[in-house]
Amino acid sequence: MILKILENIIKEELNKLNYEVDAKVIKSNRPDLCDYQFDGVFKLASIYKKSPIEIGEEIVACINERGDFSHYFSEVSFVKPGFINIKISDTLINELLVKMNENDKFNIEQKNDEVFFLDYGGPNIAKPLHVGHLRSAIVGEAVKRTIEFKGYKTISDVHLGDYGLQIGQVIYAIKRDNINIEDITLEYLENVYPKISALCKQDEEVKKICADITKDLQDGNLEYHKYFEKIKEVSGNDIKRLYKYLNVKFDLWYGESDAYNYIEEAKNIIDSKKLFKMSEGALVVEVKEDTDKKEMPPLIFEKSNGAYLYGTTDIATILQREQDYKPDHILYFTDLRQQMHFEQVFRTVKKAGITDANLEFLGFGTVNGKDGKPYKTRSGDAPKLDDLFNEVKELFISKKEENKSMSLEDRDKIVNAIIKFADLQNNREKDYIFDIEKFSEVVGKTGPYILYTYLRINKIIENKEITTLNDIVYNDYDRNLRIKLLELELAVNNAFNTRMPSYIAEYIYDLCVLVNSFYQNNHVNNEEDKDKQNSFVYVLNLTNKIIKEMLNILVIDIPSVM
Ligand code: ARG
Repeated sequence: MILKILENIIKEELNKLNYEVDAKVIKSNRPDLCDYQFDGVFKLASIYKKSPIEIGEEIVACINERGDFSHYFSEVSFVKPGFINIKISDTLINELLVKMNENDKFNIEQKNDEVFFLDYGGPNIAKPLHVGHLRSAIVGEAVKRTIEFKGYKTISDVHLGDYGLQIGQVIYAIKRDNINIEDITLEYLENVYPKISALCKQDEEVKKICADITKDLQDGNLEYHKYFEKIKEVSGNDIKRLYKYLNVKFDLWYGESDAYNYIEEAKNIIDSKKLFKMSEGALVVEVKEDTDKKEMPPLIFEKSNGAYLYGTTDIATILQREQDYKPDHILYFTDLRQQMHFEQVFRTVKKAGITDANLEFLGFGTVNGKDGKPYKTRSGDAPKLDDLFNEVKELFISKKEENKSMSLEDRDKIVNAIIKFADLQNNREKDYIFDIEKFSEVVGKTGPYILYTYLRINKIIENKEITTLNDIVYNDYDRNLRIKLLELELAVNNAFNTRMPSYIAEYIYDLCVLVNSFYQNNHVNNEEDKDKQNSFVYVLNLTNKIIKEMLNILVIDIPSVM
């Protein structure tokens, strides 16, 4: 990668001068003056007790004397008070672009020494999915694709919430309403769940019965299990349909219920480490640490009535994953509000030595409406995902006459792009406002803008032959675009290291802005200089290949028209 190459050269020169310092090269914050900067001069000056000017000029002189200077640089200069400004050569730019173009991973460093297990999606059966589940699905899938792009192996699990109180509530309603198993439909579930959940809030007795049914189910009651299987099938099919629409794919469709087989063993391990305490009849694990700034209550493993909780199944699931897959990392994607839950679980499994995997909680913020409150669709208070998709669809169709006759496949791709780009451009941890009007526009930082740019560039290069790249860069628009292409690896690495797809979204957007101004200022089609035209086509083709591949990481497919 470009930064590495420059850092290595500076390191060589520092070695020759017997200086030791971390050679960090960064992108210039004055692109009008140079492309990159080395800003270690001040540090060196203070370590070696010399003036920054003396040191800076010394290093620059050394670099300028290199026999291969002109291969790498067009200018390296010292600027007071202590910066080394670097402008790279056209030769280097083009040499690196060719390497990127010839490699299907754009010459990005590949790794394959670790296995990543990703837990995302996390819908609850028999309950409608909400926008939080949408975020988990999109962010999780994008992080998974980033990790795979770096070459690592991944295993993904949807981790269904399939054994919670909602099941007991629905089974209660089914029995009360005398519903035959084969008559349990999606409509029935969608209808009955909100009612029964509301009833449990008012009626303590019903609530207690539902809790008992849940407990009996978990303990293996065969009759309840038949209902459970049917509910899981009906609701699961709908969940699969929604993920299919989003193009989100899981290797495993395990749920909390699958963890039950591992609870006994997990309990024995924790017990053998003497970690259990009794607290008001419940079995708990103390996880507080002296350095905690926030309150950290104990993890409740088993309630006084013998029931297991969310934490219990998460611990048992880690044991299952450890035994079946031995992952090096397990990544969880949920709303930030679950942070403490995961902290309790992670500390418990670490204390008990259940896994060596590196456990990461990757929380995300809330999706808000324009009023700053959690997002609601026009039609109701609990926004079902279908309502959200429909709302975006309708708005998109209403924008232009041609959108009405567009193929369903293209239209769905655009709806996906609107929703996903709106989400993934944000820092994962921040709340954001889902402003459909804004996100559906073809201008601005939106999915449609990116798609439109891609299709426009595609039109230009469509029937042209992709030949070679000479070593000329023709003008600043051209140069800015080419340099941005070189920085792809930086964006991918940042996204990988921080598990934040926003680095990739940001990169695609910047690339689109640059390629648009390139195209407005360079008339590729009627360019008479054939070498120049070939070079432009080469660069545009590489740009579009990158946009397409990066959109794929963001789970966005490109429609045939816009
Ligand atoms: N079902 C949970 C919810 O809706 C999310 C599950 C997340 N994964 C986990 N291993 N706990 O909040």
